[in-house]
Amino acid sequence: MPRRKTSGRPGPGRRSQAPDHLAINRALWERQSAAYDRRNARALGGRHAMAWGLWRIPERQLRLLGPVRGRDVLELGCGAARWSSALVGRGAHGVGLDLSKAQLGRARSLRRGRARALPLVRGNAERLPFAARCFDIVFCDWGAMTFCDPDRTVPEVARVIRPGGIFAFAHASPLRDLAFDRRADRYGRRLVRPYFGLGRIDLPGEVDFQRTYGEWIRLFRANGFSVDRLVETRPPEGARSVYLSRSDERWGRSWPLEALWRLRKEPGAVRAPGSPPEGVLYSTSRLVLRDRRAPTENRAVPGDAEEVQQGPHVDAGAPGCRPRARGRSLGTRARGRRPLQ
Ligand SMILES: C[S@@+](CC[C@H](N)C(=O)[O-])C[C@H]1O[C@@H](n2cnc3c(N)ncnc32)[C@H](O)[C@@H]1O
Repeated sequence: MPRRKTSGRPGPGRRSQAPDHLAINRALWERQSAAYDRRNARALGGRHAMAWGLWRIPERQLRLLGPVRGRDVLELGCGAARWSSALVGRGAHGVGLDLSKAQLGRARSLRRGRARALPLVRGNAERLPFAARCFDIVFCDWGAMTFCDPDRTVPEVARVIRPGGIFAFAHASPLRDLAFDRRADRYGRRLVRPYFGLGRIDLPGEVDFQRTYGEWIRLFRANGFSVDRLVETRPPEGARSVYLSRSDERWGRSWPLEALWRLRKEPGAVRAPGSPPEGVLYSTSRLVLRDRRAPTENRAVPGDAEEVQQGPHVDAGAPGCRPRARGRSLGTRARGRRPLQ
C-alpha cells in the first residue's frame, strides 16, 4: 500500500520542481494495467459497468450523468472503458480517453457489439485533443481527475463541454487524505496532515492531486461550473468493497472515503482566463484539423497529445466533435490513496 506524502503546490506563477507526474502515472498504469484489470474485472464489468466508486453504486440510483442517449460523452481516464462501452450500448456517442497504451489495449480487446465503434484516444486529460464545445457530458469514475492537476483539467473540461453540459466525477474525499496513518498503514481517527495546502500527493510510483472543498468550489466557479450535487458515499452495514480492507471499510462507514461531484456548465459561461487556446482537433484519420475561426493556428500540441497525432492511437470511426448547432460532423466525429488498485 502506498505511503502518502503531501508535498503541496507551487505558488501561483512558480514552476513545480517536482518530478513529472504524467510520466510517473503513465509508467504506473503501463506497469499495473493487466494486474489491475484481473483483480477488478468483476467489480467493474457486467451489471457494475455503469456504477460509481468504491461501492459500485449504480448510475440508475445516483443519476449523476442523467440521460445519455444521443449525447456526446467523454470519459477522462477510461481505463478498460467498461463504463463508456455500456454508455454506447445505451445510445450515447462515447469517446474514451486515457494516458496509458496498456489500458487502451485492454479497452480495445473488451469492446463488443455497438461498443466496437467506441473511439479510444490516447491523450492527456490536462491537454485535451478536442475542439471547444464537443461534449454534452464529461465524466470519470476514479479516472484522470485523481491523477491530474485540477488547475489544468478543470479549465480543459470547461473548454470542451457545451453550455448546460454535465461534468461528473468520483475521486478521493479530501478528508481521507488527511487521515491516512502511514505507520499503521490504514485510515485512522487522527488528522495526520494539515487540510490547508492539500495539493500534489506523492506516493511510491504514483502522483495524485487533491484540493480543499473551498478550493474545488472556487475552481469550478472560476471555470463556469455550478455544483448540482456532491455525493459523499456511505456504505450500508455489511457492504463490501473490493478496493478496501475491512478496517478501511469500517472507517468509510463513519467518514467519507470518496466524493462524487455533479457539475453543470452554466449557459453563457465564459472561458476562464488562462485556459488553453481553442484550435486543435484530432480526427479519426489522425489529421489535425484546423479550427475554422483560427486557420493559421493549426499547431501540434506538445507532450502526450502529440503522440495521439503521430501514433495509431485514435481508432477509426472516432466521433471526435460533432457540433449540434451546425448539424454536421467536423470530420470526426484505491484503495487508499490506494485508489483503485
Ligand atoms: C483507476 S483507473 C480508472 C479507470 C476506470 N474507471 C476503472 O475503474 O478501471 C485510472 C485511469 O486514469 C488514467 N490516467 C491517469 N492519468 C491520466 C491523464 N493525465 N490523462 C488521461 N488518463 C489518465 C490511467 O491510465 C488509468 O487508466
